[in-house]
Amino acid sequence: MPINTDYLVIGSGIAGLRFALDAAKTGTVAIVTKKEKSEGSTNYAQGGIASVLDPDDSFELHIQDTLTSGDGICHEDIVRLVVQEGPQRINELVSLGVAFSHEEGRKKIFDLGREGGHSRRRIVHTKDLTGREVEKRLLAQVEENANIQIYENHMAIDLISKSTLIRRGIVSKKTDQSCWGAYVLDAESGAILTVLARITVLCSGGAGKVYRYTSNPDIATGDGVAMGYRAGVKVANMEFVQFHPTSLYHPLARNFLISEAVRGEGGILLDKKGHRFMESYHPLKDLAFRDIVARSIDMELKKSGDSCVYLDISHRGKDFIVNRFPHIYETCLSFHIDISREPIPVVPAAHYMCGGLLTDAHGHTNLKNLFAIGEVACTGLHGANRLASNSLLEALVFARRAAIQTAKELTAGKHEAFPRAPEWDPGSATDSEEMVVVSHNWDEIRRFMWNYVGIVRTNKRLARAKRRVEIIQEEIKEYYWDFLISQNLLELRNLALVAELIITCASLRKESRGLHFNLDYPSKDDEFWQQDTVVWK
Ligand code: FAD
Ligand code: SIN
Repeated sequence: MPINTDYLVIGSGIAGLRFALDAAKTGTVAIVTKKEKSEGSTNYAQGGIASVLDPDDSFELHIQDTLTSGDGICHEDIVRLVVQEGPQRINELVSLGVAFSHEEGRKKIFDLGREGGHSRRRIVHTKDLTGREVEKRLLAQVEENANIQIYENHMAIDLISKSTLIRRGIVSKKTDQSCWGAYVLDAESGAILTVLARITVLCSGGAGKVYRYTSNPDIATGDGVAMGYRAGVKVANMEFVQFHPTSLYHPLARNFLISEAVRGEGGILLDKKGHRFMESYHPLKDLAFRDIVARSIDMELKKSGDSCVYLDISHRGKDFIVNRFPHIYETCLSFHIDISREPIPVVPAAHYMCGGLLTDAHGHTNLKNLFAIGEVACTGLHGANRLASNSLLEALVFARRAAIQTAKELTAGKHEAFPRAPEWDPGSATDSEEMVVVSHNWDEIRRFMWNYVGIVRTNKRLARAKRRVEIIQEEIKEYYWDFLISQNLLELRNLALVAELIITCASLRKESRGLHFNLDYPSKDDEFWQQDTVVWK
């Protein structure tokens, strides 16, 4: 029997939870989330949320910083609305119980942090554990809400869309291109559920796992982009993969970020000999835009042959460091690095997907009844390089806008019956005894994406990556039909498709802009390329 719901939300990070809380006022909500409910990038966010909250700041300054960071291709209308709606969305979080840090002895004044590319202090944070605080408070509200049901360890496989139903003869080719929910794998029982929904909202986060080194948690395999693309949704700007300049370099540390807020509080980047090097790359030095800092570190490492550079905050003293960055301090200490006494070894790592499913100002994709919010979406805010701490802000603003829009559409479509979607058909698939092939393919993708489609690209490297991803996709096709699906196999299929989309967009853009740097086209071509790269099936 299918599960019927008004809203199906795929993902339980900031985008999914914030949307669900508003949507539950007008209908029933099912949230499916592929691991434990708190597991997602949101939970690991450190720096905070950018917004204009200081009398010394202005909307115009935040708008200009965002536009400069985006390097000419932000959608200015979207930038303006996100920045202007920011303070209200932050205050709503506070009323939902989120405890942001305040200035010492001034309970009503937020302690605002600073990060690369921001001309003012404007980042609200909960020390260096902002995401954990936001996720915890939103989950607590969601769990109390009788209209919301969370399905943990449930992974969406594919959207139920016109193409699925035409194949089974359930709708005709003339039917509108619509989405009616998703097929979902219950990872514990192995059962595949049909979830029918009037409105489906993809909030499935990013795709950092497509690269060998990433700050992202394991869930970040680009499932939403892959599902959307397969169903005919337009995808934009996938070449703009943001590499965070400073992730901890230590053989035992996995995906641990050293927040840009550390540089915001005076942290300095040094080479192995102790020389400051950012001065020779950009006037904003260590607080230059993220693409510039990551590329500068890459150049320094290539020049010196060293394995890492260093970030030094020790001059701020132990009391300040322990109070402002308790999580970073403790985690580094667990690897025997005392950041109050010595510099932190750091390297860049894949961090954020600026591209994604193309949406309008309400989170709408080009597929009827399908919305995308958060990192999975490409709204036009980030352009060619996201400004630090604008991601959580974007998720909050679009969750609210989408909730208002979907409530209207739900009322208008309530009378329509759900389509008779077929049960998932496993065909003649059997259990695989060769799951090792899945892990080999997974490793290979992450390696060649890092080597050929990383911070610096060339035409030759992109062509090599393209050939390799094509071979892997052939193998996956074989596997996908012959063997019973598992979470690993589904993620591999999505990862390969996302890799293909990144390579395709990167190959199309014949210039260098923001995060996309191609040695064969080292300059910016505003005449032709001041636009999004849009692809669809
Ligand atoms: P996520 O929080 O990643 O949630 C995605 C959800 O989707 C998860 O619940 C996941 O399990 C689920 N999911 C995925 N695929 C499926 C599927 N197939 N089926 C079911 N469920 C699925 N941004 C800032 O603005 N400020 C910061 O300080 C900041 N710090 C960061 C620090 C780190 C270490 C990282 C990794 C990112 C940081 N970012 C920051 C970026 C920001 O955290 C993310 O962009 C944002 O949290 C994304 O929110 P989301 O709700 O879109 O996705
Ligand atoms: C950080 O704390 O450095 C991450 C901020 C972000 O990705 O926006």
